[in-house]
Amino acid sequence: MDDRKFSVLIAGGGSTYTPGIVLTLLDHLDKFPLRALKFYDIDGDRQQKVADACEILVKERAPEVEFVSTTDPETAFTDVDFVMAQIRVGKYAMRSVDEKIPLRHGVVGQETTGPGGIAYGLRSIPGVIGLVDYMEKYSPNAWMLNYSNPAAIVAEATRRLRPNSKIINICDMPIGIMDRMAAIVGLKDRNDLVFRYYGLNHFGWWTDVRDKTGKDLMPQLKEYVAQHGYWLGDADKGTEASWVSTFKKAADVYALDPSTLPNTYLKYYLYPQYVVEHADPNYTRTDEVEAYREKNVFTECARIKTAGTAKDTNFKSDDHATYIVDLCTAIAYDTKQRMLAIIPNEGAIANIDPEAMVEVPCLFGANGPERLAMGNAATFQKGLITEQNCVEKLVVDAYEQQSYTKLWEAMSLCKIVPDAKVAKDILDEMIPANQEYWPELH
Ligand code: NAD
Ligand code: G6P
Ligand code: MN
Repeated sequence: MDDRKFSVLIAGGGSTYTPGIVLTLLDHLDKFPLRALKFYDIDGDRQQKVADACEILVKERAPEVEFVSTTDPETAFTDVDFVMAQIRVGKYAMRSVDEKIPLRHGVVGQETTGPGGIAYGLRSIPGVIGLVDYMEKYSPNAWMLNYSNPAAIVAEATRRLRPNSKIINICDMPIGIMDRMAAIVGLKDRNDLVFRYYGLNHFGWWTDVRDKTGKDLMPQLKEYVAQHGYWLGDADKGTEASWVSTFKKAADVYALDPSTLPNTYLKYYLYPQYVVEHADPNYTRTDEVEAYREKNVFTECARIKTAGTAKDTNFKSDDHATYIVDLCTAIAYDTKQRMLAIIPNEGAIANIDPEAMVEVPCLFGANGPERLAMGNAATFQKGLITEQNCVEKLVVDAYEQQSYTKLWEAMSLCKIVPDAKVAKDILDEMIPANQEYWPELH
């Protein structure tokens, strides 16, 4: 009889996503039993606010599960089976800077895209590598599932700097879009779909989507997406306006290649002028997140603490949380479930650099992900992927070599930066702003 119970560490315990993941873990105890749930963060005060509420949740719903919240790496990483990493190095204060500096130069300012994503990448690399090293020191058999962004750059860095580590980089965007696809065709959720998808993180395309009987759903989906993008109409009443706009814009992204269905993030690369025209350099996505998600999460945590109970909480399980819990379950029980991850290409996309970190479906089991072959990228996709992957590689080159020139090249090669002078102007503002986080560049 398999009576294992798992110990899970959430690294970035103070994240706005933590309560949703905790709730999902508690909902899934029959499929993925826990013996311990731990939080780790470098900002003890922020984490404590989330921990106070989550401790009540755990005590009420699963008192047998040990709950620990700490800023001490040894306490956190010792005796752990899975690490769920979701850190934001520099927090929202630096995300805001990443968005606003490029916008002041007429360039897209975005968390994971363009100069903002590059800046975030240089901050995240040492943060995530630090987590990997703690895991290897204190729980060498554990797996890390990493959401920390920018996942593409973090993945390239961990491939190069910690090639043997058990870290799997993941993203919730295709998952969220597939839940939308299921809704469009009248199915329950993404698990009712069988799909083919390829690309880089935040930079990919579906080439095939079917139901479990093999019925091709692409014609119905294409007809819908051509008109509405991934916007669901009335069902999107509670969705924030900027996300509604992104889901709708997928119609224009789709128009460029009607043979595939696109990831929403391609709007930043294919319609950067539109994005800049619709942006306000003084009020960017970070300001919205602080006013909405962060505020809601911390208000609810405080309410639970004051009430002393979480019985009536409005925290909900969502696609982001169920995906990471499903991945742990697939590894723990060797289910071979087909799920996306960001992994070394090694032939999965036949005509793309074998060393590129690509996002493709994998079978998830006890040995981690086993990639599925997606065939060749079409010429349009091959060109885009090759350029963007070189940008991501140059960022990691810049980090490793502490090279100003490599970082300038990365920003200049990036499709959404119009020329090398603009790239240099942005870079020269970003260096002092990131002084506390970036390696010194020569
Ligand atoms: P957040 O700022 O609310 O939480 C991040 C937490 O990380 C903070 O509490 C911060 O103190 C902590 N932190 C920062 N550096 C750390 C370090 N070195 N060690 C330990 N903790 C550290 O951020 P959020 O909006 O909840 O997002 C969390 C992360 O998840 C971000 O990186 C975000 O981009 C990422 N994310 C990724 C996906 C995906 O698809 N891959 C989806 C959603 C969120
Ligand atoms: C999606 C992406 C994440 C990204 C998030 C940003 O979920 O997959 O990688 O971090 O969007 O969302 P936000 O609401 O913080 O702008
Ligand atoms: Mn993502």
